[in-house]
Amino acid sequence: LTRMIIDCDPGLDDALALLLAHADPSVVIEAVTTVGGNVALADTTRNALELREYLGFTDVPVAAGAAGPLEGEVRNAAEVHGSGGLGSVVLPAAALPLDERDAVTLIIDLLRSNPGEIDLVAIGPLTNIALALRAEPRVAQWAKSFVIMGGSYTRGNTTPAAEFNIYADPAAAAEVFAADWQVVMVGLDLTLQARVTGAIKDRMLELGTLGSELVVPLSTFWADPLDPDWGGQAVHDVCAIAYVTHPELFRSTPARVDVETQGVFTAGMTVTNFRSPNPNAIVPTELDVDGFWDMVLAHYSAAAQA
Ligand code: BDR
Ligand code: CA
Repeated sequence: LTRMIIDCDPGLDDALALLLAHADPSVVIEAVTTVGGNVALADTTRNALELREYLGFTDVPVAAGAAGPLEGEVRNAAEVHGSGGLGSVVLPAAALPLDERDAVTLIIDLLRSNPGEIDLVAIGPLTNIALALRAEPRVAQWAKSFVIMGGSYTRGNTTPAAEFNIYADPAAAAEVFAADWQVVMVGLDLTLQARVTGAIKDRMLELGTLGSELVVPLSTFWADPLDPDWGGQAVHDVCAIAYVTHPELFRSTPARVDVETQGVFTAGMTVTNFRSPNPNAIVPTELDVDGFWDMVLAHYSAAAQA
């Protein structure tokens, strides 16, 4: 079994990532922790609570973390994810409460009591992870692995240089990449291979109510108005979960990644050196796209029938 903590900012693709983790019977979600990102912390946390009940992982604690970055102004991506964060999806209000612990405490406590056992997956800005490392640097040794969706080794999406999760808190990302662990950077270059094409949407439409209420609207809410060759939304965060459970679907290369925190034009850039003698990261570069969708849709389909 794969035990996971998922730190997230739901978010269209975060919701699809939570669905994959929940639907995969080999995954035990140990905790869902939230951070301000795509939308404000109150919204990402409400979405996590509502998704927990809608999907049915009601025994998993949900804990709220940082509302904004270590330094600088709060940024969001509401123009992509909608003002509430889940696009056009409106879920029933959650009845079950938030965990009393804050996200950072919960992450530290779970990793401390299960050293080497739990994969930490971060699919939002890295503020909670940086705060956890500041409070307890041994988090870096206790995590079985650390996988993020964030960054890129070519270009950004929020700015020409920076991907959103890194741009939203470059200082946190810099601390996280500098910590004493190996970061798996599932960046844009990889995740843009995982697009919801028309053919994938057709397969999602076969998921019945789960498809029509949740998976299809989350996967098709946004289209880039500036891209004349739009190939469908990319399910960025789903790729980070898939990396943990199915690394064989990815071709990866070690690299040195340093985060630009100062640049006038490049703040939040993940400067990636594939020729460094001191790699601190593993960077997936190629996805087995057919294998990925077969795996994801098989799990979604099982959840749809449950
Ligand atoms: C990342 O930013 C967010 O908008 C998505 O949820 C994903 O984590 C993609 O750049
Ligand atoms: Ca996200």
